[in-house]
Amino acid sequence: MGLARAILHPLSLLLGGTEQVSQRRWEQPIPVTSTNEVGTVTHERAQFEAVLSGIGEGICVTDTVGRVLMWNRAAEQITRVPAPVMVGAVIPGPLCLVDGDGAVKDFARTVMKRAIDSGEAVSTAATKLMRLDGSVLSIGMTSAPIRDHAGAVQACVSVFRDVTRERDIDRMKTEFVSAVSHELRTPLTSIRAYAETLQDLVGDEATVQEFLKVIEEEAVRLTRLINDVLNLSRIESGRVRFKEESIALAPLVARAIQTAEPKAAMSNVRLATDVVPDLPPFRGDADGIQQVLTNLVDNGVKYNRPGGRVEVRAWLNGGVRVEVRDTGIGMSLDAVRRLGERFFRVDSSETRRAGGTGLGISLVKEILQAHGAVLEVESAEGRGSAFRFVLPVGGGA
Ligand SMILES: Nc1ncnc2c1ncn2[C@@H]1O[C@H](COP(=O)(O)OP(=O)(O)O)[C@@H](O)[C@H]1O
Ligand SMILES: [Mg+2]
Repeated sequence: MGLARAILHPLSLLLGGTEQVSQRRWEQPIPVTSTNEVGTVTHERAQFEAVLSGIGEGICVTDTVGRVLMWNRAAEQITRVPAPVMVGAVIPGPLCLVDGDGAVKDFARTVMKRAIDSGEAVSTAATKLMRLDGSVLSIGMTSAPIRDHAGAVQACVSVFRDVTRERDIDRMKTEFVSAVSHELRTPLTSIRAYAETLQDLVGDEATVQEFLKVIEEEAVRLTRLINDVLNLSRIESGRVRFKEESIALAPLVARAIQTAEPKAAMSNVRLATDVVPDLPPFRGDADGIQQVLTNLVDNGVKYNRPGGRVEVRAWLNGGVRVEVRDTGIGMSLDAVRRLGERFFRVDSSETRRAGGTGLGISLVKEILQAHGAVLEVESAEGRGSAFRFVLPVGGGA
């Protein structure tokens, strides 16, 4: 097989490439040359294969139509399919690859094919793989194209490993968090209710009133934190099914503004909207996008200054484009980069005073991702911030 030899020669170069793959360095294409000195090739090949078989991650080299050229020992161990069966077969060979939605995948729908078509490295966090004996495992895989000296994609090298256990632990963590959160919510409801009742009972006793107010406020804060954690863990575990309905944006914006009004009035922040009147509906989940808008407007008000302003704008441009901008305290570039990390809050006296969980933006990002949208953030310290995203319109994302 000429192509196989072209790829396996010079072996040392490919080996270098494989190393880059396992270290996730993609900048350099892997050069493949076609000079042929059989003696050296045989020797280098033996060396190369010895190294490959020692690598702990599964390595698979295929040509551009998915025919397997190389299958190392770790690949054999992970899949329990021996190299003689796999080499020469077209991916997935005797194995069965299953999508998140349960559909069976052929080569055309693998990351390998995507890497070959795009000419770039592509990763997948977890693909389900069914062995011949019916056992199922999750594999994480990164595929990178291999180019010849002219730059044309000749083949694809993939590195994969069994992530079943990690996925299981992840799922257990999510379930644990959600169970604990549920258990915490119930007693908190009682604490709030009794604190409120006591406020009515004790009359004008100032100190007692003050303490009860603290109890109530803290209980409200904890409830909000727990709700955020619960919502996030639900979304992460895929238990939230976002709808795909045709939704008008304007009422959701109006609701978000209405929710923020008391806080805005208290902190002397003006709220404004500018939604173009003939805006077509977007496709998505009304509750989800409501949460996104409410969170962003709430932040705009919270991280603002007296006399400041928050504006929600929406217009049509490649979808329903939404912008929530404020004239508030803004953020450093580093803070912008860290937005969306669980529990991340800027460490400043202004932020601390405002109170919050550091989960709002995480939620916003997750919800938008489910809509095929990305949260863009622009911010300047002391001047304000703008948050933008585009919602899909018409039939499907
Ligand atoms: N509009 C904004 N202006 C300035 N800082 C912001 C803004 N929105 C978010 N931040 C910063 O990002 C952090 C994370 O926001 P978020 O996830 O909504 O959490 P929370 O509001 O509960 O603190 C905030 O604590 C704040 O430091
Ligand atoms: Mg917030």
